[in-house]
Amino acid sequence: MRPYVICHMITSLDGGLHPSRWTKSPDGERATWSETYEAIHKTFAAEAWMVGRVTMAEISRAAPHPPAEAVDVARPLHVADRNAASYAIALDPHGKVHFNSGDLDGDHVVVLLGKDVSDEHLAELKNDGVSYILSSTSDMDLPGMLETLGREFGIRRLLLEGGAGVNGSLLAAGLVDELSFLVAPALDARKGADRVVEFSEAGLAHACTLSLLGCENVGHGLLHVRYAVGNA
Ligand SMILES: NC(=O)c1ccc[n+]([C@@H]2O[C@H](COP(=O)([O-])OP(=O)(O)OC[C@H]3O[C@@H](n4cnc5c(N)ncnc54)[C@H](OP(=O)(O)O)[C@@H]3O)[C@@H](O)[C@H]2O)c1
Repeated sequence: MRPYVICHMITSLDGGLHPSRWTKSPDGERATWSETYEAIHKTFAAEAWMVGRVTMAEISRAAPHPPAEAVDVARPLHVADRNAASYAIALDPHGKVHFNSGDLDGDHVVVLLGKDVSDEHLAELKNDGVSYILSSTSDMDLPGMLETLGREFGIRRLLLEGGAGVNGSLLAAGLVDELSFLVAPALDARKGADRVVEFSEAGLAHACTLSLLGCENVGHGLLHVRYAVGNA
């Protein structure tokens, strides 16, 4: 069974993705907003969090280091640790993100890769103690890979934490159960600015419905809004 997926994001009032580019507020500062975001993250008690390639590269900050000697690699699955207390998951279709270890601040790393990622990259991940799942199709088989996360790693609840395209793709595929947005007292307003959710020219108008689950003032000018995601 695939995990229950909650898309957890912080956004400006106009849907901005990058807090560093927002207006300031006398109600609170970005650092405090981030702390509140992380505190709410913890309350979900999810076994895993997942981000796109760009966000994971910002977090891992590792350089390429292919193994000096040949390493046998498995396809489509390599499990380095199936009993971790928690998991950090990256969507990386072309195998661009590198890691220094399979442990990211206490979370075991699992990378969801495109079908054609090279053996050399798989060998680097294996050597680093990182788990991976390759897509069974030439696009990213998101439903199949989420099923594998549930079956092989026992992940029941997963926080989807951006960026925009990854959020949009999972919503369009009917793979998100809930939105948890922390709305900051700020505006982005840049023309063409990145938003917290993005999906193709058509958008998501025919893809899903949202029903309000709750709205709470969590201080520092922040509202925490939660919506159940249904089928359109
Ligand atoms: N406000 C928030 O709560 C929040 C949360 C997280 C991140 N952020 C910020 O968001 C920024 C990054 O967001 P981003 O949207 O530029 O990048 P991202 O979502 O982190 O990564 C996008 C990349 O993920 C890969 N990807 C894998 N599967 C995908 C799919 N199905 N759909 C779309 N992309 C897929 C693609 O890599 P390839 O290009 O290799 O194909 C794509 O370019 C960072 O600066 C980060 O700090 C904000």
